[in-house]
Amino acid sequence: MTPQEEGKRRAARAAMRYVENGMTVGVGTGSTVAHFIDALAERRHDIEGAVSSSEQSTRLLKERGIPVFELNATGELALYVDGADECDPQRRLIKGGGAALTREKIIAAASKQFVCIIDPSKRVDVLGRFPLPVEVIPMARSHVARALVDRGGKPVWRDGVVTDNGNWILDVHGLHITDPVALERDINQIVGVVTVGLFAQRPADVVLTGDAALDGNA
Ligand code: 5RP
Repeated sequence: MTPQEEGKRRAARAAMRYVENGMTVGVGTGSTVAHFIDALAERRHDIEGAVSSSEQSTRLLKERGIPVFELNATGELALYVDGADECDPQRRLIKGGGAALTREKIIAAASKQFVCIIDPSKRVDVLGRFPLPVEVIPMARSHVARALVDRGGKPVWRDGVVTDNGNWILDVHGLHITDPVALERDINQIVGVVTVGLFAQRPADVVLTGDAALDGNA
């Protein structure tokens, strides 16, 4: 296992202390979350089940015998656990590297506590080194791309990727995001945008790297 992969596994394991018996847990998407699903499976008899943010996570959860529920059926959740592509000191995130940003943002909004699990390399001072994913309605791709260029970005179509919602992704390079809340609000208003992968208006509540010193519980 590479050091980065080991960091992801440690972070995922650290999130288990937020899982309480009887919970329905919101579950994100990605390789870090895959480690979390493995850990959750060890306690599958203690929990009620999960709400999943993607077809990929739904498959992993079901393979490990964890019941998957619809968010409409569960109502608000106590806990959401997900990874991220970047995280700033205010726990604001870039997400969407795995193209699951819209369902992830919905579950984050519907959850009381959002625990973000990352390997330490994802911590940055200013968001934007990782290209910012934007999910768009397919017919609006060029329109949205032009609007993003007007905002100083260089959008690149993630050609060949279709989201679980049937939409496309633009990855916006070259942004130095000093005001993530304002940029999230602004990009969300472009007609044709489904979701921008900035999680700033609703940041993570807790960020875990699995390193006690970095996580502030040394
Ligand atoms: C998926 C995401 C993921 O959380 C993000 O891409 C991190 O993935 P990984 O844990 O594989 O590094 O936002 O849409």
